[in-house]
Formats: sequence, structure tokens, C-alpha cells
Amino acid sequence: MFKHEIAPFTKGAAKSTTIGLLAGFSWKNNSNKIAELFYELGKYKMVKAYAVFEPKGELKPFEYDPGTLGHNEVEIDVHYCGICHSDLSMINNEWGISNYPLVPGHEVAGIVSQVGENVSHLKKGQKVGLGWHAGYCEHCSPCQSGDHNLCGDARSTIVGHHGGFADRVRADATSVVPLPEGIDMADAGPLFCGGITVFNPLVQFNIQPTDTVGVIGIGGLGHMALQFLNAWGCKVTAFTSSTSKQDEALKMGAHNTINSRDPDALAQTVGRFDLILSTVNVKLDWNAYLSTLKPKGRLHFVGATLEPLDLQVFPMIMGQRSISGSPVGSPANIARMLEFAAHHKIKPIVEEYPFEQVNEAIQHLKSGKARYRIVLKK
Ligand SMILES: NC(=O)c1ccc[n+]([C@@H]2O[C@H](COP(=O)([O-])OP(=O)(O)OC[C@H]3O[C@@H](n4cnc5c(N)ncnc54)[C@H](OP(=O)(O)O)[C@@H]3O)[C@@H](O)[C@H]2O)c1
Ligand SMILES: [Zn+2]
Ligand SMILES: [Zn+2]
Repeated sequence: MFKHEIAPFTKGAAKSTTIGLLAGFSWKNNSNKIAELFYELGKYKMVKAYAVFEPKGELKPFEYDPGTLGHNEVEIDVHYCGICHSDLSMINNEWGISNYPLVPGHEVAGIVSQVGENVSHLKKGQKVGLGWHAGYCEHCSPCQSGDHNLCGDARSTIVGHHGGFADRVRADATSVVPLPEGIDMADAGPLFCGGITVFNPLVQFNIQPTDTVGVIGIGGLGHMALQFLNAWGCKVTAFTSSTSKQDEALKMGAHNTINSRDPDALAQTVGRFDLILSTVNVKLDWNAYLSTLKPKGRLHFVGATLEPLDLQVFPMIMGQRSISGSPVGSPANIARMLEFAAHHKIKPIVEEYPFEQVNEAIQHLKSGKARYRIVLKK
């Protein structure tokens, strides 16, 4: 009922409108005013968000009524929200799963403002984060094995659900993870999608400190991957197409850098890597990358490359090499990643924009000039 495209909201303005409506109010023959009054009062519980209304559209202020809080849900007062490349892909409906109006934002850091009556492990006032998933079925085999991120019925924060480009966002309590001591809200958001996505493979594939690992694409995900891998003890190579990022990649934890699009440079690294993590969403020469793996090495995709892979099978057969992919990480691994980040003082390098400048922020991401994660700030 209360779904409106509106002018940007300010509490003061709404309050004075409400007082204005009450002043000189006569209850006789005033049904329009009563409706208007209820609308104004209703605004206090409306979520004030930014939404796109069509593929590739601009973000515009948007209000929605979140309804009654579910028994297993929490509501988060959003303080910061990172912008992941997946938000851009969803805005543009590149994956064919977007519903409009679409409120992006799945790298939320904020404070719990309400908890459902069944929620006992989170408290009002607690600092928390929310990533790609806003809920899981909780009873399938992956959920019961702790692999919630592999749940076939997992609910995404921004698919058929309104995300974190808003003053508040709701999610099932299982998907909301408390921030440990040592993680500031200003740095936390990007860890909840970009961070966990590159940390999770280290856990899944039992990566050793003696391993040599390459990261392709030094953007939001890639720059956090370099930091995690360095702290994990690995020998780290940054594959980047941007010469301007080479020195910075070394400061983030890479031990050397290679041009990700240079066939000669790739040819010099044949048989070197135990793991290569691709964070790009474009097509590269994947056969050349396959040749840079050691026997039993793995080329792992977390970047959502849409073009099908055209890979030679023989290097995989002869060297028992693997190709794989994975989505974000489970709540337990998010908590583990946050502890690791706090202990090793790992944090994203962020550029902050106020929420009101969300369209400028999106343009900056599109331009490829973001260094390295854009975060919206309340
Ligand atoms: N699997 C998951 O669960 C998961 C989670 C989050 C995000 N994602 C996906 O991961 C991908 C990366 O997300 P992000 O937020 O890190 O994006 P991003 O900040 O835009 O970074 C992507 C990086 O890819 C490289 N790149 C871009 N265009 C290129 C080109 N034409 N040739 C070579 N390299 C190119 C760039 O790095 P250089 O400048 O260093 O070359 C760029 O910084 C997206 O597809 C996103 O949807 C997946
Ligand atoms: Zn499940
Ligand atoms: Zn993401």
C-alpha cells in the first residue's frame, strides 16, 4: 500500500508536515486529511531506500513498507553499505534475475534495531553485517552441514528482497553476523560479500602457507584477496590489466605482479601456481592460465564471467588440474573471516560516498576507476 517514489526524505520535514496536518484539524468531513495523516504517520515505519525501476536505470528515492518483523528476522539500521560489482550486474539485469523496483546493496554494516521473538543470539544495539544472503532454508543437507551458502533455497538480499541501499534492511537472523572486536563498521561492509568470497576458497581447498597463489583482477574482491593470501602465508602474484595498480598491489601483499592480458608474461609462469583465483567478469585466455598451474593445481572462478569457458581438457587430465567456482561463504566462515581480518588488521581500501550520491558512486564503479571498494555512508 505504501509504495511510492518520493522526494528524498528528511525526518524534520515529515514531522513538520504532520504537525501542520494536525494544526487546525477538524474531524468532520475530513476523510482525505485523515488518510493523509495516516500516510504521514506511516512514513515513520517506512523504509527509505534507493531503487532502480528498470534495467540500467538511475537510482531514485523509494519507500516501502517492510510489514511486521518475522519471528526469525532482525532489522538492521544501515550505517554503511559497500557497492559490489554484482550490484551493478543486478541493476543492469545482466544475469536475468532482477526484479524491479530493485534496491541494491548486499555489503551492509549497521546496528541491530529490532529482533524477532525467536532470535536469541543477536541483540538490539549490536554491530553486525549482512552479505549476499538474507536467509536459508536451514534444513537441507548443505544447511545442516554448515554450507548455508550452497543452499538451493537460499534467499538473496537483493533478488526479490530489498537490500542495503536504504536506512534499514531486514534479514533472517542466521545470515546476520556480529562484528568482532577490531572490525569497524566503516570497514566491515565489503568483507561481507567481496571479502568472504575470496577468503572462502582458502578454507574450502585447504590452501597451505607453502602454496603459490595468483589473483586475477585487482578490484573490490582482488585487493582483499591479496591481503588474505599474504596473511595466510602464501606466495602471492597479482594479475592485473592496470599498470597503475602494480605498485599498490605489492603494498597490499602481492610479491610480484603480472599483466593479466599479456600472453608472453603468462607463458613465463607455466607450471607455477597451486591456485589461481579469478575475480574478473570478462573473458581472458583461460587456456594460458590453465598452463600456469602446477599438477593438481586449481583455477577457481569467483568472478561472474558470463562467456562460456573454452578449455583444453588434456592439461586437466594429464596434470589432474581442476576448474571450479564458489559463491560467497557460510555464516560460520564469515565469522571466521572477520576474526582473521581483525587479527591480521586486514581491511578493504575504500572510497566513501554519502548515500545521496549513490548514482555518482555507481558511475565511478562503472568507469573502472574505483580504488578499491566504494562504500556508501549514512
Ligand atoms: N562468486 C561470488 O559469490 C561473488 C561475490 C561477489 C562478487 N562476485 C563477482 O566477482 C566479480 C568481481 O567483483 P568486484 O566487485 O571485485 O568487481 P570490480 O571491483 O569491478 O573488479 C573487477 C576487476 O576485474 C578486472 N577487469 C575488469 N575489466 C577487465 C578487462 N577487460 N580485462 C582484464 N581485467 C579486467 C579489473 O582489475 P585489474 O584492473 O586489476 O585488471 C577490475 O578491477 C564480479 O563479476 C562480481 O559479480 C562474485
Ligand atoms: Zn538449505
Ligand atoms: Zn557481492
